[in-house]
Amino acid sequence: MTAQMEKTLSIIKPDACNRNLNGEIISRFEKAGLYIRTMRMEHLTKAQAEAFYAVHKERPFFDELVTYMSSAPVVIMTLEGPDAVRKNRELMGATNPADAACGTIRHDLALSIGENSVHGSDSLENAKIEIAFFFPES
Ligand code: CMP
Repeated sequence: MTAQMEKTLSIIKPDACNRNLNGEIISRFEKAGLYIRTMRMEHLTKAQAEAFYAVHKERPFFDELVTYMSSAPVVIMTLEGPDAVRKNRELMGATNPADAACGTIRHDLALSIGENSVHGSDSLENAKIEIAFFFPES
């Protein structure tokens, strides 16, 4: 069966931008067959980060997450390819870099569960919501 063409949202987080790892991360997406369809570097406001991560509002780490994500610029991208949502999550690895498989972005590059270098949509449904959040014109 041919994999379905999908779009997913990817964010390169402040820790990776600050360490000059944008090219390294983007090249992993491209080598895996994911195409960048939209891309923008932006310093999120606290309000934007709060709105984007609203599903985590009740979590104990919410304030830390929002402060961190609005601490420095991030790179926001739409990635497209066959099975893009799952493929992106496979490339990223587990949320906590300590649990991430060898060769994944988080295993190789991330610093901690908070400073975990990348965000990626966790389902096709959320990908649509997250893409519309940052790229409403698409
Ligand atoms: P992300 O995929 O961007 O989605 C939510 C983020 O919350 C997650 O990556 C982590 O960076 C962050 N997060 C999850 N658990 C914790 C935690 N225990 N402490 C700090 N941040 C966390």
